[in-house]
Amino acid sequence: MSIKENVFPSHFAWGAATAAYQIEGAWNADGKGPSIWDTFCHGKGRVYENQNGDVACNSYDLWEEDLRCIQQLGLTHYRFSLSWSRLLPDGTTRHINQKGVSYYNRVINDLLASNVTPMVTLYHFDLPQALQDQGGWTSAHIADAFNSYAVFCFGTFGDRVKLWLTLNEPSVCAKLGHEDGLHAPGLRDPGAAAYLVGHNMLRAHAKAWHSYHALFRPEQRGLVSLALSSDWAEPLDPGSPEDAAAAERYMAFTFGWFASPVFMTGDYPAVMRSRIDARSRAQGFLSSRLPAFSEGEPSVLGTADFFALNYYTSRRARSASPPPGTLGLKSDQGAEGVLDPSWPVCGVSWLAVVPDGLRKLLKHIKDTCNNPAVYITENGFSQVGPVDLEDFRRCGFYRDTLLEVSEAIHEDGVDVRGYFAWSLLDNFEWADGFSVRFGLFHVDFEHPKLTRSMYRSGREYAKIIARNGFPSSAQS
Ligand code: GAL
Repeated sequence: MSIKENVFPSHFAWGAATAAYQIEGAWNADGKGPSIWDTFCHGKGRVYENQNGDVACNSYDLWEEDLRCIQQLGLTHYRFSLSWSRLLPDGTTRHINQKGVSYYNRVINDLLASNVTPMVTLYHFDLPQALQDQGGWTSAHIADAFNSYAVFCFGTFGDRVKLWLTLNEPSVCAKLGHEDGLHAPGLRDPGAAAYLVGHNMLRAHAKAWHSYHALFRPEQRGLVSLALSSDWAEPLDPGSPEDAAAAERYMAFTFGWFASPVFMTGDYPAVMRSRIDARSRAQGFLSSRLPAFSEGEPSVLGTADFFALNYYTSRRARSASPPPGTLGLKSDQGAEGVLDPSWPVCGVSWLAVVPDGLRKLLKHIKDTCNNPAVYITENGFSQVGPVDLEDFRRCGFYRDTLLEVSEAIHEDGVDVRGYFAWSLLDNFEWADGFSVRFGLFHVDFEHPKLTRSMYRSGREYAKIIARNGFPSSAQS
């Protein structure tokens, strides 16, 4: 491999990512309204050891510590999310919480003063509880509520923020939150709720993108997208046509569900439409469980100025034939994802480490989404059990992954503009609480000061950033 191949393009964005509920704490401080994650965690039996994000990393009070971490890594970009109910306690612009505005102004201004570009996510799983009480993402009205919130944020912060993500991982919010009940709001309604939620999320995103485009872009000149998570799936047996079709279905139901409406056709993948329509009919539903886009609404196609990809893992797919009456996304998909025994699993059972899956997925994005600019907005490696600051496996993971990204750029011609490690800090890992650690910095949750200490992987990442890649001397 030549030196050139391991050097990233100039102006490559080197980032790390976080999300409000996972780091901020201060769940009810200074006028913040409750979110669905506050409610979810305060109920019992939902999160590992009944933990919650009431305090988390207390980034609300310890922002300057986080900024120091960002500076120590030498990040050029930092991705964080706004807590909707910290800004708008009841979810509407009827009441604006100025202390919330001041907090995010400080974060943004400090980043810019440190030469770090903010990438801001408007929604990372934490819906204001007041909106959940009106149906949340299952209600068609949510799209307008989200649009008003987005317009408020563009107007308040958009003079300085130029990279926006409306929604983080709508598929995860839809499925884990509304079908499996593992995430807030904890709904277990297999078969229909996830598609309805996903649909309303797409409508909400499209409205916000159109608002930005019409009202703010001419002056602010920023870019707006949404962060899509996807596994990469390949046939379990490459020689089997059934497995090949299963892998295609797996990709359609994970990647295509949101990428197809936004980047490809303006509609869901044909295989989703045909399977869910047919199964809904056979199950006695009066209409398809997969909603249809209506003509009167702003178009979803083309509502992303770049592709924002969260990639964690891969699967081998084989065909599955659940009984026709079974409800749920997996049954509709008719494909099962299994782990290849050669893939190491890191910490959590779902996270098989497959760096070359990222390269393949990047190529797939180039080929199917009209060669967009891509930011990898999340990618990471978890640690469980005893804390090990000398996290050699994670160092190897980042190195292998970034080499794959480099190949995607130089060999496959994918227009990758940046990479955000998940995460800057160990934080509240949703239903796994604090038991699963993804940080480049360890946070001592037992210590009153919530001390941040850099992992070895943080030091390695900082070196890669400083060299803008892997110069030849660093390759051994
Ligand atoms: C993503 C999510 C992050 C983080 C990560 C690691 O799905 O956006 O908030 O938790 O997974 O599991």
